[in-house]
Amino acid sequence: MKDGKILTMGIESSCDETAIAVLANGREVLSNVISSQISIHTVYGGVVPEIASRHHLNNIPFVFKQALDEAGVSLDDIDEIGVTAGPGLPGAVLMGAAYAKALSMASGISLVGVHHIQGHIMANLIEHPEIEPPFLSLVVSGGHTHIIQVLGYNEFKILGCTRDDAVGEAYDKVARVLGLGYPGGPKVDALAKEGDPNAIEFKRVYLEKGSLDFSLSGTKTAVVNYMHNAEQKGLEVNRADVAASFQEAVVDVLVDKTMLAMKETKAPYLVLAGGVACNSRLRERLEKALKEKGKKLYVPSPILCTDNGAMIAAAAYRKAREGKYSTLSLDVFPGLNIETGLHKLEE
Ligand code: KG4
Ligand code: ZN
Repeated sequence: MKDGKILTMGIESSCDETAIAVLANGREVLSNVISSQISIHTVYGGVVPEIASRHHLNNIPFVFKQALDEAGVSLDDIDEIGVTAGPGLPGAVLMGAAYAKALSMASGISLVGVHHIQGHIMANLIEHPEIEPPFLSLVVSGGHTHIIQVLGYNEFKILGCTRDDAVGEAYDKVARVLGLGYPGGPKVDALAKEGDPNAIEFKRVYLEKGSLDFSLSGTKTAVVNYMHNAEQKGLEVNRADVAASFQEAVVDVLVDKTMLAMKETKAPYLVLAGGVACNSRLRERLEKALKEKGKKLYVPSPILCTDNGAMIAAAAYRKAREGKYSTLSLDVFPGLNIETGLHKLEE
């Protein structure tokens, strides 16, 4: 507690960012330090789990110190320590969780295990105080593609999810065949701006009628096959057209299914979350579709879309206010389901 405000620390290490933030009263970002390993994993074309874990281990103490320094607070001022407990790369999640547990044990500060996706959704609350459950959220990241009904700050219902690739994963793979490098999402997004979204008709998979689930691997494979065929025949490819057409196919399905879920749940607005929430075309198309129905789209700033500690602190703050603390025996759950929730597993 400082100046009468509750201070929450958020620790995130589920993939390739070592991130720690300090939030005041669940919304005011006092610091948000992100140490990215992108340059380390780029040479491998994707995240190498073992290397990610080792870098988290090296980086965490420095990120921790910087997060406190930039916030202008000391550990004694912190009221609760939130940490991602899953889902994510097991070894990577373990690094953050072990650090948080050690901090909590040494200082006596309460520990709060957080579901990574809950963090992505709650990132929206930092900048948009008017958001209050119930609402609908589309979560699109490197590991997740979910339509989630947010019934309370700690109560979630999954209405649909991907049956194969996550959106970010498909973007990253397409970027690789286009020779754009890792992480591919932002690069495909930028290149697509120069291309024609209607140049190539890539497969759109809707699954059974009325289904809110996704299947994105077919669209991704269609792009891979298109590139290989062109290469074999020695044909020149307009890569910007391929990027724009792939993006359009993915965005068409995301928008259509989300709008169906909006109608079915009579949700007042949509909250977009996850790394792919940075995507310019997805934002533009969702905003337009929602506006036509008189509804609003909420999106976090780009720095709060991709993995960060502030989102984990925002979720931990909400859990703590409902008394959902963790014990020092907090475990990590690489495949944690947001509906089950960590607190139910811990009870
Ligand atoms: O949420 P996030 O940081 O990590 C996970 O929890 O997975 O999301 C990272 C993903 C990567 O696949 C990256 O390519 C994608 O988000 N991404 C984008 C954009 N910016 C990041 N995908 C499409 N367009 C973007 N502008
Ligand atoms: Zn994430």
